[in-house]
Amino acid sequence: MECCIVSALCGFALFFVLFLFLWFFADADFTLLKANLFGQSPENKLKGLVVWVTGASSGIGEELSYQLAQCGSRLILSARRQDELNRVKHRCLERSSLKDEDIFVLPLDLLERTSHEEKTRNALQQFGRIDVLINNGGRSQRSLCLETSMDVYQALMELNFLGTVSITKLVLPHMTQRGTGSVVTISSVVGLAGAPLSTGYCASKHALQGFFNSLRCELADYPEILISTVCPGPVKSQIINNAFTEELDKPIATVPSQEHKMPTSRCVRLMLVGIANNIKEMWISQQPVLGFYYIWQYTPTFAWYVSNLLGKKRVQNFKAGVDADSAYFTKPKTS
Ligand SMILES: NC(=O)c1ccc[n+]([C@@H]2O[C@H](COP(=O)([O-])OP(=O)(O)OC[C@H]3O[C@@H](n4cnc5c(N)ncnc54)[C@H](OP(=O)(O)O)[C@@H]3O)[C@@H](O)[C@H]2O)c1
Repeated sequence: MECCIVSALCGFALFFVLFLFLWFFADADFTLLKANLFGQSPENKLKGLVVWVTGASSGIGEELSYQLAQCGSRLILSARRQDELNRVKHRCLERSSLKDEDIFVLPLDLLERTSHEEKTRNALQQFGRIDVLINNGGRSQRSLCLETSMDVYQALMELNFLGTVSITKLVLPHMTQRGTGSVVTISSVVGLAGAPLSTGYCASKHALQGFFNSLRCELADYPEILISTVCPGPVKSQIINNAFTEELDKPIATVPSQEHKMPTSRCVRLMLVGIANNIKEMWISQQPVLGFYYIWQYTPTFAWYVSNLLGKKRVQNFKAGVDADSAYFTKPKTS
């Protein structure tokens, strides 16, 4: 009997050590990593599907377009800058066996909600259906709450939250009519956690999480419709260059280094694996940020404590003009 208990404890300890070891090298939650190893491949599941990507002119949306093209998906590419969308289309054609008519460039401003009905009609007319909507377009923020104008807060909610809700509401009736489809929304680690210098951005991503978690429940009668939210940590892109600051038209002063961020291609590959395997929420980030998702989810009191410690340093760095993102351990400049 004693021997059995000792063996069970040893087995458990071994499993725990192995788990910690794997977790140390993980760059996504375990459900997603399991799907990446044993699940359906995006190449099989996404081939021939019509995918509408917003924010396709740069960063994550641009890389999504390339990888989806390589999977054989037909694409509707949207963002404000038509020349950039044409560039992305051209590169998609170079990298895949898609033909010109398989990729439709559809310029769209998420802030101009009155245009969304017509844009959705155009998108539907092009291929006759939309199988997957990827709500990716959005902007971040780098400014202290007390110094940020209400116009910036309004713009963040209008763009990241209401713009996304508007397109989703227009595409959804088409999906419910067909009884199938996927709405995938790029949220963020700050859709789950809090972060200084990003109060409005964080709020807009929390709003998206609440909206889509509720929508998923409302659509319980449609088991073939996937509502998925993706929560990436820091990923290489133009997000900080384009971030809102204290005022609407004020550009960012210090563009931080991207060195510590996850390669865009790896993040997007994991997203496509998640979509191919119907995963409802994906956490994608390298360590140590991945650890934050877990402590925010399972031990919020501890998360508040740690976030306050790190957040204090981040605010100090920001005020001292040091790269707030990657310089937690850099001594602020003294004047
Ligand atoms: N990179 C990260 O570390 C990270 C982490 C978590 C979540 N995310 C999320 O990932 C998504 C993509 O961001 P990214 O990192 O790829 O940044 P990015 O390189 O700046 O790309 C943002 C995209 O959004 C589009 N966009 C901006 N304003 C728009 C508007 N008014 N209407 C339509 N499209 C608009 C931009 O195109 P135009 O300028 O041509 O309109 C661009 O294609 C965002 O939702 C972001 O919040 C990013």
